[in-house]
Amino acid sequence: MTIFVTGGAGFIGSEFVRQWVEAHPGESLINFDKLTYAGNLENLASLDGRPSYRMIRGDICDATALAEALPEACDAVVHFAAESHVDRSILSAAEFVTTNVLGTQVLLDVARAKRVKRFLHISTDEVGGDIPAGQFFREDSPLAPSSPYAASKAAAEHLVRAAARTFGMDTIVTRTSNNYGPFQFPEKLIPLAISNAFGGRPIPVYGDGLQVRDWVHVADNCRALRMVLENGRPGETYHIGGGNLCANLDLLRLLLRIMDKPESLLTYVTDRLGHDRRYAVDCSKIRRELGWEPAIPLEQGLRMTVDWYRTNHEWTSHATSGEYRTYYERVYGKDVAHG
Ligand code: NAD
Ligand code: DAU
Repeated sequence: MTIFVTGGAGFIGSEFVRQWVEAHPGESLINFDKLTYAGNLENLASLDGRPSYRMIRGDICDATALAEALPEACDAVVHFAAESHVDRSILSAAEFVTTNVLGTQVLLDVARAKRVKRFLHISTDEVGGDIPAGQFFREDSPLAPSSPYAASKAAAEHLVRAAARTFGMDTIVTRTSNNYGPFQFPEKLIPLAISNAFGGRPIPVYGDGLQVRDWVHVADNCRALRMVLENGRPGETYHIGGGNLCANLDLLRLLLRIMDKPESLLTYVTDRLGHDRRYAVDCSKIRRELGWEPAIPLEQGLRMTVDWYRTNHEWTSHATSGEYRTYYERVYGKDVAHG
């Protein structure tokens, strides 16, 4: 069996790759990643030297590079590669459209030409936009994205669905809620808050801090993705969430309590433009069809995450200094900037 992962050097992709290689030691996994600022090969250092794992640096918008890298009739493409940070999409959306929309179409085209057996597309609960209190976003609810990031992810989903309908490709879409855990780039709320709290720096709270998110530990999410890949039904969409709906302020207060740091670090700042107030995914389908349940309660997951960042402070300092970008050169003998 061979699986082809895009974006496997990022936060969620690298957790998936580590889990898959551990669980399937005799099978081949190719990680195709452009290594943008979010791609960090230090996340995959534990796999260096494993014969079943191969890293190829490339851009999903580059059909020629993809065609060279993707084996004929490979068992699955698992598509994580994306520009993923909402704030960056508000500052500049073009790269989001290029990678998330065009890149997904180019990947679909090459996957179809190579007769890939299954295409698992990683999407997000953000495609549903604001979900009013008391309601839940279901797999068949309409899409109503609010940010350029979410709009680009919604467009990508439509292209995946079109490939299934038009060309009969075996595709599955997953929509996951907010992930947290080790190896998350410290631009996202939880690693940023942990890093700032360790350093005694202010933690920015956007607007009134009452926006609700559903937090799922990345290990639980990737276990769900493996189940969907192996046993999900073609053409279906599956929601994955932790069942931990929490206002940002409550989450940050819990985190500070765990870290034994003062709440005075919380600093209200101007709200994110177009900021969605609430996400809430209905995950009854994946529970019913595949028997998946999240296993890591929020407080325990946050404690594990704080411990990881405490023990691996070098990872954070490399991520913030840019040092991690020399890893490719150190291990593969080439400069990241030159491929
Ligand atoms: P990330 O930003 O940490 O990683 C993205 C990865 O994609 C990086 O390794 C980057 O180098 C790679 N990449 C970017 N552009 C590329 C291109 N053109 N060609 C090849 N590789 C490219 O992202 P993440 O947080 O791990 O998210 C992974 C996926 O999951 C994304 O599709 C995201 O939309 C989705 N998602 C994320 C979350 C979350 O909470 N982080 C929740 C739901 C869905
Ligand atoms: O819901 C899934 C999505 O979760 C994914 O699709 C995205 O790829 C991922 O980045 C994440 O998006 P969010 O915008 O929800 O995550 P972020 O960590 O940026 O923000 C979480 C919440 O915290 C959000 O309401 C904004 C707020 N926030 C964020 C930052 C970085 C703050 O209040 N202060 C901050 O400094």
